[in-house]
Amino acid sequence: MAINIPRGTQDLLPGQIEKWQYIESVARDLCKRFQFEEIRTPMFESTELFVRGVGDTTDIVQKEMYTFEDRKGRSMTLRPEGTAPVVRSYVEQKMFGYATQPVKLFYLAQIFRYERPQAGRYRQHHQFGVEVLGSNDPATDAEVISLAVAFFQKLGLKNLKVAVNSLGDKDSRNAHRHALINHFEPRIGEFCGDCQKRLEKNPLRILDCKVDRDHELLKTAPSIIDYLNEESQTRFNKVKMYLNSMGIQYEVDPNLVRGLDYYNHTVFEIMLDSKGFGAITTLCGGGRYNGLVEQIGGPETPGIGFGLGLERLLLALETEGVELPIEKVLDCYIVTYGEEAKDASVKILHDLRSAGLSADRDFMGRSAKAQFKAADRSGARFVAMLGENELTSGKITVKNMATSEQVEVLLEELAGYIKG
Ligand code: HAM
Repeated sequence: MAINIPRGTQDLLPGQIEKWQYIESVARDLCKRFQFEEIRTPMFESTELFVRGVGDTTDIVQKEMYTFEDRKGRSMTLRPEGTAPVVRSYVEQKMFGYATQPVKLFYLAQIFRYERPQAGRYRQHHQFGVEVLGSNDPATDAEVISLAVAFFQKLGLKNLKVAVNSLGDKDSRNAHRHALINHFEPRIGEFCGDCQKRLEKNPLRILDCKVDRDHELLKTAPSIIDYLNEESQTRFNKVKMYLNSMGIQYEVDPNLVRGLDYYNHTVFEIMLDSKGFGAITTLCGGGRYNGLVEQIGGPETPGIGFGLGLERLLLALETEGVELPIEKVLDCYIVTYGEEAKDASVKILHDLRSAGLSADRDFMGRSAKAQFKAADRSGARFVAMLGENELTSGKITVKNMATSEQVEVLLEELAGYIKG
């Protein structure tokens, strides 16, 4: 019996992978412009990291983690998100002691969540994420949001919707928590078992429960915005002011709470607001997580970041009909006539490649006509034709595929000619 790919995962094959490479290069370029540096953390971490970081009442920790015991019986988990591992590394590598502060990091990483697969939701997905550690300046909140917006705009997405909210500081959240408990308690019996457990422990999580999302009490639930204390409100106003000053359009969504426990103050999501994009529209989510570094054993350190799903991004680009500027380019294809020419082409190919050019030839014993076709398919800029005459004269006939112009070039000058 054939062995199939695990449900909710994808092979990324040539033909598609060029899009990924392009998108990744845009992310890297942009991060350079914003002065973020790349970090790569392991694909698995101690389970405890996510239980502590993401929160034990979240869907991610309760239902979606790929957790296993290693051979020594230690509980490990394939990373279900990128922030906790970066914070773990920040603490472990003592990045709080770096001369340059805040520490601005980005990652391109596979993420694993045992979810019900559908369009835009997979069991392995990829995130482009950024994290800023060490600054509590609301300008960093605005900077992080602007980076995500710039990324989508650079790729050519048009119908973006930026939603922002503030979850406030500890006091604001506590006041809101009490209001939520009062709101849900009388009718908590109508909610799923998880939500019943969440009521006392973390009532905010009821607001993003996937099971109870249509319950009427969710629509009338007290909104955090009304419980922000003055300090939190002032902070949020600053973030909005900075967004305004950059001309970034956004909506304040008082129901935006995010599905991970580490957030406080600014939270945001970026959605695609295009017809036909399906039910899952959130391309990017993030927010501030002051307190997470301490929770993971480090010194008191503010942080903010986002994660952005690349599979969803590709679907969004498709929905909006965006053609990425991907060109298939080959500098030179060598077409050979006869066995001797084929033998000689091995060294010529090697010389072209050594000179830094991309070059190819046929390895399937194809006719000259079929070799030309293959050259065309591979997007060759030049085709070099090598037969008996060329071998005797030491010259090779080169055709410029754009102009159809044909010239004879000394073999040793071939690379220089193509470069020129
Ligand atoms: P998140 O909202 O759970 O946040 O995920 C971020 C993004 O990853 C989502 O907006 C979505 O585009 C994509 N995504 C999530 N789950 C799936 C899935 N099953 N299939 C496909 N794409 C998915 C976080 O993970 C936080 N760590 C973000 C963050 C960074 N907050 C602060 N820093």
